[in-house]
Amino acid sequence: MKYIHFFAASLLIFLLSCGGNKETTITDNTSNSTPHTENAGNDENKEDKKSGSSENYDPKRGEGKFTDENLKIGALDATLATKGKEVADVKCTSCHKLTDERLVGPGWKGVTQRRKPAWIMNFITNPDPMIDKDPELQKQLEICLVRMPNQSLAEEEARALVEFMRQNDGVK
Ligand code: HEC
Repeated sequence: MKYIHFFAASLLIFLLSCGGNKETTITDNTSNSTPHTENAGNDENKEDKKSGSSENYDPKRGEGKFTDENLKIGALDATLATKGKEVADVKCTSCHKLTDERLVGPGWKGVTQRRKPAWIMNFITNPDPMIDKDPELQKQLEICLVRMPNQSLAEEEARALVEFMRQNDGVK
């Protein structure tokens, strides 16, 4: 029931757009952005811990097998980015724009500044457990009203998508 309450409150606060979090997050240009997760709704998040079993959740990395160590991220791989765009066109752009504007889900502009590659990889390969635990995703869910579906991405597809998102964010 607490959830409903949080839902209603956040809906009011973030009514403007799904990227409602963009005010708090986009300004945060370091890619290791923790501070914003402490912002709006922190009381509720603390209380939700009991029900959401998010005690050990790492909001920078998300939950899954990918870490900063096992992902190789360097200069932009344009070929890989092009592959990522092809996957996005089939599986993602019905819900995500490449700008900062929301469609069904948040726009992708700036997502690689808001999120680390490992977080993105963990999330897009298996969204459900993270939607249940990640405070920022819960805020988005409350605004978008739709859960990001599991698109059964292969690891290579996910990696290519990250490259495409980096390219979209101006990485060269
Ligand atoms: C049916 C609509 C839908 C589809 C298709 C979809 N998403 Fe999402 N996505 C969402 C929603 C809604 C959210 C916000 C979180 C939530 O509510 O689950 C989201 C959140 C995200 C985020 C986090 C954005 C942020 O700013 O933190 C990323 C990254 C993402 N999606 C990537 C993808 C990728 C990659 C694909 C294609 C493989 C994809 N999405 C397909 C609806 C969708």
